[in-house]
This record gives sequence, structure tokens and C-alpha cells, in this order.
Amino acid sequence: MAIQTIQSIRVHEYGGPEQLKLELVPRPTAHEGEVLVRVHAAGVNPADWKVRRGWFKDFLKVQFPYVPGGDLAGVVEEVGPGVTTFQQGQAVFGQSSHGSYTEYTAVSVNTLALKPEKLSFDEAAAIPVGATTAWQGIFDNGSLQPGQRILIQGASGGVGLFAVQFARWKGAHVIATTSTANVDFVRSLGAETVIDYTKNDVEPLVHDVDVAFDTVGVPTLLASLRAVKRGGTLVTIAGQPSVEEAQALGVLVTSFSARVSSELLQTFARLIEEGQVKVVLERTFPLSEAAQAQEQSQSGHGLGRIVLHIAD
Ligand SMILES: NC(=O)c1ccc[n+]([C@@H]2O[C@H](COP(=O)([O-])OP(=O)(O)OC[C@H]3O[C@@H](n4cnc5c(N)ncnc54)[C@H](OP(=O)(O)O)[C@@H]3O)[C@@H](O)[C@H]2O)c1
Repeated sequence: MAIQTIQSIRVHEYGGPEQLKLELVPRPTAHEGEVLVRVHAAGVNPADWKVRRGWFKDFLKVQFPYVPGGDLAGVVEEVGPGVTTFQQGQAVFGQSSHGSYTEYTAVSVNTLALKPEKLSFDEAAAIPVGATTAWQGIFDNGSLQPGQRILIQGASGGVGLFAVQFARWKGAHVIATTSTANVDFVRSLGAETVIDYTKNDVEPLVHDVDVAFDTVGVPTLLASLRAVKRGGTLVTIAGQPSVEEAQALGVLVTSFSARVSSELLQTFARLIEEGQVKVVLERTFPLSEAAQAQEQSQSGHGLGRIVLHIAD
């Protein structure tokens, strides 16, 4: 008989990490165009604690109680009506709009792909939002071309580490920023120049890049803007610089919300299987320690993605 009750983290109201409650809830089912996934691992993104704090409430409606998260990796348990592209038992990774800090969740087939065989579930859960944001940031918004120079601020983070690797794969020259502890790591990703932001300011060192990709925000945005050549692009995912200064410098500033798709997930899986791109975890936590995981994410520092390890 199918399991009826599952463990899930749920949030009943906006607030601090104490709002992340581990509860027993009915097992969900897959609707039209969805599969039910037994979640083995869930990625912890900064957006997860920002939503929980209510920072996005003006443009993202949540229905309480909600299950946090979105990124996941697991095994297809059940196939919903109309689904022909996935089968029960397949190992998958992707993003659920119903939340991922849970033992089972429904996932649209449009945001799901087969898990790269060489990756663990924990590693695969670290990919969806981070890699998608990096790809759409530097290619779709930044139009990065082979041979161009790109500045990547926040290169050791869950987005930045993919941005460095994708830019190198494209044949761009990468200048990256990180703190002392992560310098060797960022160099190992392929960055030609790594600036330790705790020791050096970016502004006097970096000029005339074609593209700047800023994943940090307030502390770095101005230096990112001033590093871009006239006619170049600043892509920012964590804040907006002064419009007047951008206009005066002749720099196009773009920002966007990442949209996970099966096609992109398949591209990432292929690059990983080919050994072109690697995945790095900061740390794993059990589902019962989702609050500690989000608190660590909220620190804004570290190397790689934090993941909830939910099942072996
Ligand atoms: N718009 C979108 O669609 C979208 C999508 C994903 C993420 N985001 C946003 O993008 C931001 C980054 O996300 P993430 O997942 O990469 O976060 P993360 O995994 O927490 O990484 C943050 C990184 O920033 C680095 N950092 C902090 N201060 C820095 C500074 N002054 N200079 C250079 N690096 C610095 C940290 O490295 P150190 O430890 O070395 O300081 C850390 O590796 C978050 O604000 C997130 O909400 C937006």
C-alpha cells in the first residue's frame, strides 16, 4: 500500500527560521503534466529564506502553510495524467513549484530532467536554480561571446561557481572575486584572474570588461558597473546600481528572474557528464535542520550550495 503520511517542512506565517516546522502531512499526488518525486535531496537557495521572511510578498503570492524550496533530486514514484516523458523509478533533478523541503512532492515535467549518473542526489539538487541563473545571466542577458572578458562577483557562491565554469566553457576570459578562503577553489573552476575582495578593491584593478555579472549586490554593484566598458553590459541578480551613473558610463544594466526548464537542465546534465562542469556542495543538513541550513545560507558567505539530505 502507498505511504499515506510524509514528513515535510511547512511555513505557516512569515518570520524567522523558527517558522520552519517539521510536520506530518498527507502524501501529495501528481496532477496533469506532473510526476510525484520521492525527494532524496533539496537545494537551499537564498530565495528560500527571503520568501520565508516575506521579502517577496508584493510580487510572489504564497498560500500558507507552504512547503519551502524548489530545487530537488529524487526518484519518480508516480506518473501523473498525460505524462509520457518520465517513468516510475527514474532518477531525476529539477524544480518543484510545490516546494522541495519534503519527502515527496509533485514536479512539472517542464522543470525536470534525468539526473546525471555520475552525480549523487545531493549534488544534483545543487544545480537547478544556481546553474539556470548563471546561464541566463551571462548568455541570455549578458550575450557573452568567446574571447570576451567577464567580471564575476561572488564567484564561489551557488550561482557564481556555475557562471565561472560556463564562461570558461564558452571561451571567455574570467576575472572573479571571492574571499581569501575560496581563492584556490575559484581558480580551480577556471578563472584566470581571482581577486580576493578582503584584500583588494576591484575598482582600480578591473577595467573595460565586456560583461559584469554581479551576484552580490550593494557591496559590489558600483565597482561592477565601473568595470564595464562603454557599450558593455552589467547583469545583476541582487540589486540595482544608480541609473544615472549607468547612463553616464554608457553601460546597459539588466536584471531578471531565473526560469528553470527541462531543456536547460538537460544541457547542464550533458556538460556535467562530459566533465566540462562540476558541482560543489557547501554542506548538507538533515530535513529536521532546515532552519540551520537557511541560517547558514543567510550568512551570504561560503563555497558552493547548501543541500538538505532527505533520503539515501
Ligand atoms: N534573480 C534571480 O533569479 C536569482 C537567482 C538566484 C540567486 N539570486 C540572488 O543572487 C544572490 C547570490 O545567490 P547564490 O545562490 O549564489 O548565494 P550563495 O550561494 O549564498 O553565495 C553568495 C556568495 O557571495 C560571495 N560574496 C559575499 N560577499 C562578497 C563580496 N563582497 N565580494 C565577492 N563575493 C562575495 C560569498 O563568498 P565568500 O564566502 O567568499 O564571501 C558567497 O560565495 C542572492 O542574493 C540570491 O537571492 C537571484
